[in-house]
Amino acid sequence: MKLIVTGGAGFIGSAVVRLAIARGHSVINIDKLTYAACLDNVAEATKSPSYTFVEADICDAAAMTAAFETHRPDAIMHLAAESHVDRSIDGPGAFIETNVIGTYTLLQAARQYWEDAGRPEGFRFHHISTDEVFGSLDATGQFTEETPYDPRSPYSASKASSDHLVRAWHETYGLPVVLTNCSNNYGPYHFPEKLVPVVILNALAGKPLPIYGTGSNVRDWLYVEDHADALLKVLAEGAVGRSYNIGGENERTNLELVQTLCAILDDLRPGPAPYADQITYVADRPGHDARYAIDPTRIREELGWRPSVTVEEGLRKTVQWYLDNEDWWRALQNRDGVGQRLGTGTK
Ligand SMILES: NC(=O)c1ccc[n+]([C@@H]2O[C@H](COP(=O)([O-])OP(=O)(O)OC[C@H]3O[C@@H](n4cnc5c(N)ncnc54)[C@H](O)[C@@H]3O)[C@@H](O)[C@H]2O)c1
Repeated sequence: MKLIVTGGAGFIGSAVVRLAIARGHSVINIDKLTYAACLDNVAEATKSPSYTFVEADICDAAAMTAAFETHRPDAIMHLAAESHVDRSIDGPGAFIETNVIGTYTLLQAARQYWEDAGRPEGFRFHHISTDEVFGSLDATGQFTEETPYDPRSPYSASKASSDHLVRAWHETYGLPVVLTNCSNNYGPYHFPEKLVPVVILNALAGKPLPIYGTGSNVRDWLYVEDHADALLKVLAEGAVGRSYNIGGENERTNLELVQTLCAILDDLRPGPAPYADQITYVADRPGHDARYAIDPTRIREELGWRPSVTVEEGLRKTVQWYLDNEDWWRALQNRDGVGQRLGTGTK
């Protein structure tokens, strides 16, 4: 298949690009190259004649129309987004622009291309979203595809808006869409402002390992390469108009996750003292959702997909990757806002 992938220089998008190229697809990677992007993430793919890079903003209607007309894809996988909750608290405008207006712009460009091409049944607009649109759970229960939306941060509200737009374009114009809502990802090439890389890199630097609040917030962790595999599965086999929740069935409190990372580091790169001694509790994020948990029954039973690694296996691979790829993460540590506490609600 010929795929447009938006946000393919980011964390998850680049995993999709690498896997899609490895499986023989052609990829047109459209990315604006924001602070979160790194073209090294797709260095391997650039060697392939099946890979094309287009530097463009998804809010640029003319550029998106031209991309569809020039490349004539079989499908688009839309991952470009502003993705960091803490940054959405300090500056929500960019989240509304990219996540809402950008998705609208892409939907219009895709619709025009699809209609001009005679409304081919096989075309897909695959919208990649988050479990955060469903809000926050108490100690029990899981998000299903039927859970009502209840976003609580500027980030999750902007993603919820984009999900609604994608469904509306399907219902109103017949655009063949599929949607996925995934839990927290971790793995190689994770930008060093998110919890897992922050913990690994601060631990190695002898810095505090910051835990928001009491560390009791629960997340369901999925290895990024498993997510990319699930996305290609949904693209190929998902039913039009349907959404699929993707999760790792690996619930951990933030404190448990950090302790696990410390134990892996103690094993792979022993320091003078256990890394867990560096754990430090800091002020909580405003509106910090207590718990997310995914019920992945639909994708498992309808599409036969399940994750390939446990969270312990995936975290060990991830820590080893950061130990082996210092050049990659050192270059990103000078970027704007990295290493600073963001999203305290005081700006
Ligand atoms: N990270 C997670 O745990 C997670 C979980 C579930 C869903 N998601 C969703 O997956 C997608 C990818 O997340 P990620 O963690 O890889 O994000 P990321 O921040 O690592 O990457 C986002 C990419 O999008 C690009 N981008 C941003 N604004 C753009 C614009 N206006 N035009 C073109 N490109 C633009 C950036 O340059 C970057 O390369 C997002 O839609 C996110 O909501 C993420």
